[in-house]
Order: sequence, then C-alpha cells, then structure tokens
Amino acid sequence: MSVALVGAGPGDPGLITVRGLERVRAAEVLVYDRLVAAELVAEAPGMKVPRGSLPQDEINDILVRHGRRRRVVRLKGGDPFVFGRGGEEALALVRAGIAFEVIPGVSALAAVPAAAGIPLTHRGLSAQVTIVTGHAADGSDLDFAALARVHGTLVVFMGLEAVPVLAHNLIAHGADPQLPTAVVSRGTREDQEVVHAPLAELGEASRGLATPALLVLGHVVELAALLAPLQPLVEAAVR
Ligand SMILES: C[S@@+](CC[C@H](N)C(=O)[O-])C[C@H]1O[C@@H](n2cnc3c(N)ncnc32)[C@H](O)[C@@H]1O
Repeated sequence: MSVALVGAGPGDPGLITVRGLERVRAAEVLVYDRLVAAELVAEAPGMKVPRGSLPQDEINDILVRHGRRRRVVRLKGGDPFVFGRGGEEALALVRAGIAFEVIPGVSALAAVPAAAGIPLTHRGLSAQVTIVTGHAADGSDLDFAALARVHGTLVVFMGLEAVPVLAHNLIAHGADPQLPTAVVSRGTREDQEVVHAPLAELGEASRGLATPALLVLGHVVELAALLAPLQPLVEAAVR
C-alpha cells in the first residue's frame, strides 16, 4: 500500500502537524521512535512496533514488508529529514517500489531553542545558522577550525556527551571562551531544563543533564534573559 514518514515534533505532542496526526490516526501499522510522545503513539488504532534498538536495516525491512500490504506510518522525532535517517528509509522504499510520502515535522532545531526563549536568528546578532552533530564525541568528523570561525548561531544535535570535547576543541581553534551558550534538555516537554554558561564553562554547567539535549552557541542565547520569562505569561493569556 504505502508508507508515510511522519515528523512527530520535538516532544510536546501538540507540536505534530495536522496532516501528520491524520496519518497516525489512520495507520494500520505504526513504527515509532523512542523519543516520540506516548500520547501520539496512543492515537494509532492498529499494530504498533517500537523501534527500540533495532538496527536501521531491520527498520527498513519492516517498512518494506508491511508497506506492501498495509498503510504504514513511520513516526519519527522532530523532522524525518533532519538528522532523522528519513532519507535512508525513503531510499529503501524507492528501491522496493513502494509508494511513500514525507510529512515534515517541527524539528528540534528551532523549536527547542524557541522553548527556551532563544531565536535562532535575530537582526544584528545572527544572520547565519550552522547545524552539526556532536555524535562522534572525539570530534573526528567535525572541522573545529571552521566551526570556531562561524558567524551567527551554532546548533549541535546529539552533543551532550561531547560537550567537554566540543568546548575544548572550539576554544583551542580560536572560539571566544566567553561566547554565550545554552543547553536545552528535553525541550518543549514539561520536564524541560535549560542551562546557560560561557563556552569555557559549558562542560561543567551541563553535567548531569538528561538527554535529549540540544546545544546552542552564539549571541542569540543572551536574548533568553528577555524572552524566556515571557513565555508563561503568553500561555496564561491564551488560556
Ligand atoms: C537523532 S536526532 C533527531 C532529530 C530530529 N529528527 C529533529 O528534527 O529534531 C536526536 C537529537 O535531536 C535533539 N533533540 C530532539 N528532541 C529534543 C528535545 N525535545 N530537546 C532537546 N533536544 C532534542 C537532541 O540533540 C537529540 O540528541
């Protein structure tokens, strides 16, 4: 039949798109990631397959196998095509000749900083956003010399464990040790936590935070002092 690769949003179940929720509610098979909100998984009426620790190849096989005969939804955290391996799954479906669609999601990229009062761009402060993964904690796949020189805002996915290495290497390559930074843990969720620190102190400041966490580096981080406290007031005014 078909497979929909659906972005579930960054954690708050209210941040899935209207079309994404429609697909989930019509799913005969739902294959979902660990970070997807339980409330969204509960919306699916049919068979549910948690990704758990299954390797990517096995997930691809499951999508192809069920996708031949059923309406399958592959529900992924954030947006499927932002550090989500959605492209790999789409390629597997193309190779198997199975119809698919991609329904974008609200990526942690902008939603998680926003939930902490940090706009990614801001006139006069940041006109450029650089996104990297800190997955390889030894930094072997990152060009620190280039990253230390980037203007604007630097966002690091999957970087919590690598914070000390990242901070050390950026400073060693010329980044300002006083550069404002923030780590947003479990952003948009009720248990969200945010720490702020100059780059040189980020390792210490972020110790003990829970995953998932997003690192934001740049002068836009300072806006949180003005923008974050307003959020509860806005919410209260809407209710
Ligand atoms: C495998 S990537 C998936 C990204 C996802 N496709 C997206 O567009 O947001 C997982 C990483 O995204 C970031 N992330 C996802 N949800 C988050 C959240 N609620 N709070 C903070 N970081 C989050 C973290 O850096 C986490 O390690």
